[in-house]
Amino acid sequence: MDPRPIGIFDSGMGGLTVLHECLITLPHEDYVYLGDAARLPYGPRPLDEIRRFAVEIAGYLERQGVKLVVAACNSATAAALPDLQRILTVPVLGVLAPEAHAAVLATRNRRIGLLATDATVASGRYAELVHALDAGAEVVSVACPRLVPLIEGDDPFGEETAAAVRAYATPLKEAGVDTVILGCTHYPLIRPILQRVFGRGVTLVFSAEETAREVAETLARKGIENEHGREGRCTFLTTGDPETFREMGRRFLQLPIARVERVAIAALEAAAA
Ligand code: DGL
Repeated sequence: MDPRPIGIFDSGMGGLTVLHECLITLPHEDYVYLGDAARLPYGPRPLDEIRRFAVEIAGYLERQGVKLVVAACNSATAAALPDLQRILTVPVLGVLAPEAHAAVLATRNRRIGLLATDATVASGRYAELVHALDAGAEVVSVACPRLVPLIEGDDPFGEETAAAVRAYATPLKEAGVDTVILGCTHYPLIRPILQRVFGRGVTLVFSAEETAREVAETLARKGIENEHGREGRCTFLTTGDPETFREMGRRFLQLPIARVERVAIAALEAAAA
């Protein structure tokens, strides 16, 4: 038995969709969630800069005494996962490998689509991971810079979002993909729009569900689970405005958020020093 919490981080709120799935799969665990809202979005930033932010945050979480870190941000995973695994002493999981694995299992025609941020598409990591499992599978990638601002905006389910999804989906439909990786932790929020645009015949792969499964398996195999039957606690931290995080965060977590504490960027930078 290991009572230490699990650390989860994202550039902002998107990782709360991963926390949501972890809370359902592993309700007995404690969690520390850190959203780097002051530096959101990561998607349009250079990979080197995203890597620096991720190293700071993961180091900070390790100093808080977590037993495992989840990089619940596709851009951060794409930019930094190998570095995080080298630097930290606790296990670090990202959100790309579980999705790539699920997509390879799901596809029947071996044509896989990817919708993600600029940084994630530019990293080329999904194609590498898919090809490590099936060298013959084809990956068609589309960067979707408009989706995160729309999902975080006032009208995430409005016509503008639907039009953007239709435009981003067109090259994937033309390529005949039967499986689409939603390579950004914000996208589960607009799942109904995505499923309507692609239709029932296309399998959508979301990182949240796949990652929660991997977290559960990792804790069990390493023998570091908390006691079953208890109800875990969540601590929420943000570099941005705590009240905005609390309000908007509920949209992503779909559960109440009682309290959010602010963490100074300087405290994160100190953790990486
Ligand atoms: N959370 C980021 C990701 O999953 C999307 C938001 C951002 O661009 O920071 O890639």
